[in-house]
Amino acid sequence: MPEHEKTIELVPVITLDGPGGAGKGTVSLLLAQKLGWHILDSGSLYRLTALKALRQEAEEVSQLIEIAGKLDVDYVPMRDHLTILLEGRDVTDAIREEAVGRRASEFATIAELRQALLQRQRNFARPPGLLADGRDMGTVVFPEAPLKIFLTASPEERAKRRYKQLKQKGIDANLPELVSELEARDKRDSERAAAPLRAADDAVMIDTTDMRIDEVVNQVMQMASRCFGFIEV
Ligand code: DC
Repeated sequence: MPEHEKTIELVPVITLDGPGGAGKGTVSLLLAQKLGWHILDSGSLYRLTALKALRQEAEEVSQLIEIAGKLDVDYVPMRDHLTILLEGRDVTDAIREEAVGRRASEFATIAELRQALLQRQRNFARPPGLLADGRDMGTVVFPEAPLKIFLTASPEERAKRRYKQLKQKGIDANLPELVSELEARDKRDSERAAAPLRAADDAVMIDTTDMRIDEVVNQVMQMASRCFGFIEV
């Protein structure tokens, strides 16, 4: 039996895939708090690799793989976000910058780099359970997960959410530009040959365009309690 299947047999995993801005991060965080489970923010690994590569001006695939393999990262769950430490320094905001996101999306097309991050992602599956957030959680990283969710929302709604987040942080933003950036990112993530963004055949699709976050969380909680047989609290 492959190593990752052994892990999943012992540890319950819920995968949450979908495009940026569909609500995966917030939903994962709220579910993790409700269930007391761990979180894998897999996008952060691509972003951290991109941040370090930008800082070191590394371009070669072999350099990127070395960076990805040696990432020294810690996640500290806070009430409303995950604080991310790279080599002990807080990079939570730095990895969300547009330049880093663009690089992360480019690096995510490199199959060897994805392979270099695979086992690290699977190692996040620890008791009592894992919420795995990303693009290929249900298709590649945890294909045996018993509950797979695919969250979507219209590009306009996703751009609006991003606009609100940026404004809250005091960052100036332009809505039409955000829509076209999101569409370009979606296109690259969906059309790449290596682990493209797509729903697993057995994933449940939830369109969050007209839903509040608590409605999405409740819907997934109901599915999780049916799937794993626990009582909702
Ligand atoms: O979710 P995010 O915006 O933080 O992800 C950053 C980039 O990494 C995004 O362009 C897609 C890519 N990614 C990926 O290819 N596979 C994942 N499991 C997670 C993210």
